[in-house]
Order: sequence, then structure tokens, then C-alpha cells
Amino acid sequence: MSKLFSGIQPTGDLHLGNYFGAITNWVNLQKEHDTVYSIVDLHAITSDYDPETLRDQSVELAIDLIACGIDPEESILFIQSDVVEHVELQWILNSVTSYGDLTRMTQFKEKSQDKEFINAGLFSYPVLQAADILLYKAEKVPVGEDQVQHIELTRRVARRFNHTYGDFFPEPEPIIGHGARIMSTADPEQKMSKSGHEKHMIGLMEDRDSIWEKVKSAVTDPGGVEGEEMSPGVANLFTLLELTAPDDVLEGFKEDHREGELMYIELKEAVYEHLVSTLEPIWEKREDLEKDPGKVEEYLQHGRDRAEEIARENMREVRKLVGVRRRAR
Ligand code: TRP
Repeated sequence: MSKLFSGIQPTGDLHLGNYFGAITNWVNLQKEHDTVYSIVDLHAITSDYDPETLRDQSVELAIDLIACGIDPEESILFIQSDVVEHVELQWILNSVTSYGDLTRMTQFKEKSQDKEFINAGLFSYPVLQAADILLYKAEKVPVGEDQVQHIELTRRVARRFNHTYGDFFPEPEPIIGHGARIMSTADPEQKMSKSGHEKHMIGLMEDRDSIWEKVKSAVTDPGGVEGEEMSPGVANLFTLLELTAPDDVLEGFKEDHREGELMYIELKEAVYEHLVSTLEPIWEKREDLEKDPGKVEEYLQHGRDRAEEIARENMREVRKLVGVRRRAR
């Protein structure tokens, strides 16, 4: 089984875009890979954040992920700052990372734009990401399109390390966006995201009433359009239906649409109904976990122990290759 790593920042609540775009994919990948999933809190501190709440947010995200089906026995699920080797490897990798490459990172350019104070963490963020992946010698990295450049960089870093110190790291390959692309219901031209206004996302743990409000008021079009053509808003509702409803339900609505008989309110009701039945088991699982914080902490310590074991072993080799002192322990 090939080794697979991915990371997610503990910033903001998970929404349907994260769930259908990435997390369901993470869940499915567990079966055929050795999966390592990390809540990357050290990445989160490179952007504005609240130190008072970050720790809780990381644990909340772990609960969400487990509720969504990440199995903390099958996968290694842990919080990045629990395994200090990530930082050590990052420092070492800095010396085999091209400054020029880092200046060309699109995400850095975007995030540093219009900022008065650009912290160096934002600049070396991709090196920490490379360290995350290489620390476990991961061969596959499921990510969204926007992260592909960082994986390319990781490959270059691995190559340079291997060239300089001797073959050690595999060059990881991205697994790109198998997931669905969910758009904002309020503005179906833009991707559902946690950075935008609250109305642009439907939270995974949002309550029924507020989900219904957002689905009900989803932007569609004036209606009465026949044929295969769909406005982005209607297409987005169909995407959600496809992800949650049985085939015959989906087909029924598609036929109505083809024949120009589709009632948007009925489509919205169906989307709401099937969405809620998809989410209900997740909500229930989350409730159970919330009642047992000791259990969650146990899962996270178990994840940390397993991650640490691999990290320590690989760092022993890295230290040897690089020529720095070996730790006694
Ligand atoms: N940068 C990624 C994001 O913003 C998160 C991340 C950190 C990551 N380390 C990683 C993703 C390692 C994949 C592998 O989405």
C-alpha cells in the first residue's frame, strides 16, 4: 500500500465544499493507502488567527474529521504541532529549497498582497508543507488544484535533497481534486469557501433551519429554460442532489428539467431533504464524540504516537545524512 499524506488547516468551520470536495475523498482513500492525515496548526499561525482558540479549533476539527468517517485506527490522524519533527525537517529542507521558487508561489503572492507586514512564515509555508509530506516519505498527496504548485515544489525539494545528501525521499505525486466542486448558493459563480461571507457557505454542522434558508434562497435563474442548458445556480443544486440522492430521484429531476417542467422549489426541497439525510449520521457521530472528550484526546494521542514513531525514525536517517548530531533518545 502506498503511503499517502494530506493536511488541513484548523481555520473556520468545515463546509459542504470541504466535505464533498476533499474529505469524502480522504475517507475513500483510507482503504487502499497507508493514510496519514494532519491538522496543520503550525501552518495556521502564518495568517491572522486567535491563539486563545486555535487549540480548541484543532480538536474540533479532529472531531469533525472522525465524524465524517476518518477512522483514527485505520488512518494516522494527528495534530501537526504534536510532532515536533515537522519543524526540524523544515529547517533542514530550507537549505535545499530555492529562494526563487518560493518567490514564485502563487499562494504566497496572493496572501502577501496588500499586507503591510509580510511574515517570513508565509514565505516558507511551502517548505513546512514539504516537510509534512516528506517526513513520512509519502508518495501520494490528495490536494485541491490550488495546492498543486506546492506539491511540485515538494518534488523539487526532495530531488535536491536526494542529490545533495543521497537518495532518501520519494518524489510525491499529487492526487488532484477527485471531489466535487461546490459553489456558493448565494453566488453560484464563486466557489463555496470559508474566507467569504457566511452566506457563501453551508457549514457541515449547521442546523437544519439555517441550511434550509440557504438552500431555499439559492440563486437559480428566471426559469422556463428548456433543454440541457443550466444556469450555474441550478447546476450547483443538481450537483448537490447527485451527491446525496438516489439515482432515480436525480433522474426524475433531470427529466423535468429537460422538459422544461422543473419547479425550482421542488428541486430545493429535494436537495435539502437528501442533504440532511446525508449529514445526519455525521451529526450523530459528532454528538457522541462531543460527549466523550477523553476518547477524542485518546485518539489524538494515539495518532501522535504513531506519527512520531515514523517521524523519529526518518529524522534519525536525515540527521545522519545531513551531518548534524544524532539524538541519544
Ligand atoms: N497548504 C494546504 C492547504 O492550505 C494544507 C497543507 C499543509 C497540506 N501541509 C500539507 C496539504 C501537506 C497537503 C499536504 O490546503
